[in-house]
Amino acid sequence: MKVVVLTGAGISAESGVPTFRDADGLWEGHRVEDVATPEAFDAAPSVVQAFYDARRAALTTVDPNPAHDALARLGEVLGDELLLVTQNIDDLHERAGSPTVLHMHGELLAAWCTACGHRVRWAGTLGDQPPCPGCGAPALRPDVVWFGEVPYEMDRIVDALVDADLFVSVGTSGAVYPAAGFVQQARAYGARTLELNLQPSEGSRWFHESRQGPAGLLVPAWVDSLLG
Ligand code: APR
Repeated sequence: MKVVVLTGAGISAESGVPTFRDADGLWEGHRVEDVATPEAFDAAPSVVQAFYDARRAALTTVDPNPAHDALARLGEVLGDELLLVTQNIDDLHERAGSPTVLHMHGELLAAWCTACGHRVRWAGTLGDQPPCPGCGAPALRPDVVWFGEVPYEMDRIVDALVDADLFVSVGTSGAVYPAAGFVQQARAYGARTLELNLQPSEGSRWFHESRQGPAGLLVPAWVDSLLG
């Protein structure tokens, strides 16, 4: 059985990583346009770098939760039959042991040189303008996808949605495209579709089934039932 799982900020909420659009979410304290667009970075790079430096540093204070663990278990059993796509830029799927993770919005633990295009794993800060390991220019930015930029590996994702027997969305509000449209694509090509979210998302009506509750409970229960 071919399965595509899409995760969003809700899967990391119980680990202590703030979501974006909930009451205590990241966007409550920041305007999206001030920190998550190329224009914001051009206008005030130090503000944007400080925002991402703080979030990168905070990764060391959080751990995967049972939802990440369950998806790692699923990945070990299904192997290539599972494509785990995340909108999250944290590393909690990897730390839970998921064998492969497609970060369609990039990763906090990676940097990208705007001078030479070099991409590099990065655990430290970027606001202090460290030199690019490739060309030496002090031109590294977070390797994350901002509003107005194209998500990574869309070809691979669409191919998997076309082939999928089952599409499952976990902890995402369905507010941001193209990820919000994956359910309709998968369904149009014949997949069964299931949503696991704390509350109905903006796209709930597109799913065959929507279950409400915390990911830390819903995801392990769903994985257990799938694996029998
Ligand atoms: N378990 C399950 N779902 C939860 C939990 C939980 N414990 N806590 C919150 N949620 C749900 C919320 O109800 C909400 O529907 O997770 C969803 C989080 O939505 P958003 O904050 O909008 O996060 P996400 O959908 O991942 O955002 C998409 O938007 O800002 C951009 O690039 C950013 O990747 C991000 C994208």
